[in-house]
Amino acid sequence: MDDALLRAEHVSKRFGPVSALTDVNLHVRRGEILGLIGDNGAGKSTLIKILTGYHQPDGGRLLVDGEPVTLKSVVHARSLGIETVFQDLAMVNDLPVYLNLHLNKELVHRPLPFLRRREMRRRAREALDSIGIDIPSVTAEVGLLSGGQRQAIAVARSVYSNAKLLLLDEPLAAMGAKESGLILRLLAELKQRGDLAIILIAHNYAQVVDVCDRVNLLQHGKITFDRAAADTSVAELLELVHAEYRLPPN
Ligand SMILES: Nc1ncnc2c1ncn2[C@@H]1O[C@H](COP(=O)(O)OP(=O)(O)O)[C@@H](O)[C@H]1O
Ligand SMILES: [Mg+2]
Repeated sequence: MDDALLRAEHVSKRFGPVSALTDVNLHVRRGEILGLIGDNGAGKSTLIKILTGYHQPDGGRLLVDGEPVTLKSVVHARSLGIETVFQDLAMVNDLPVYLNLHLNKELVHRPLPFLRRREMRRRAREALDSIGIDIPSVTAEVGLLSGGQRQAIAVARSVYSNAKLLLLDEPLAAMGAKESGLILRLLAELKQRGDLAIILIAHNYAQVVDVCDRVNLLQHGKITFDRAAADTSVAELLELVHAEYRLPPN
């Protein structure tokens, strides 16, 4: 009996001559936050894009609840409860906040395809307030907000979708201390629900050790470290990531 919600087995991916992933094995359980760390170019985003159906792996397979699946597209993955906040954000800058929050799931009056704008504005306000993110107006154009506010909206959108697996590719990168604190608190709250699995890519190891249950390190397309967060430390993670760049003693 496989207790992993999602499992990747022997996954590989090449881009022409570049081997982005080689024989990656990774899993995440319900109620668990898995931290995925690694240097730039290690393959983190490529792995997330495979887990969300954006890229197809060249080799290996994915299992959801122990059943092999072929994710045909991001839409297909979403239909299976896999939601992603991409590093290269999927926000439409000239649309207001509330429509960005409803992107691809706009509420319409049936049978006529009118958008239920007032209801969408209400729900958007409610979603942002429940997270505690400070966005003055849901009718503001997203392009006018800060990078941190845009990231927060992207996270709110995915959370608000009833996902069972949430994939977050550097959601904290553009955020200040207050905003990332709110997002980390939100992730901790989501974890308490117990049925949601989260994979979080982040570069701040203190935050990773603090909020994650387990940490995987990706180096040159391979998982080289898999440890309970309680059994590692910021110092150890820094040492592991940076050791390969240290100059030999002379
Ligand atoms: N669409 C692509 N086409 C070609 N090469 C890519 C593409 N996406 C990623 N790569 C390459 O794959 C490797 C891993 O990239 P990426 O997954 O973005 O790493 P990370 O997110 O860990 O910084 C890098 O060498 C990168 O240049
Ligand atoms: Mg990346």
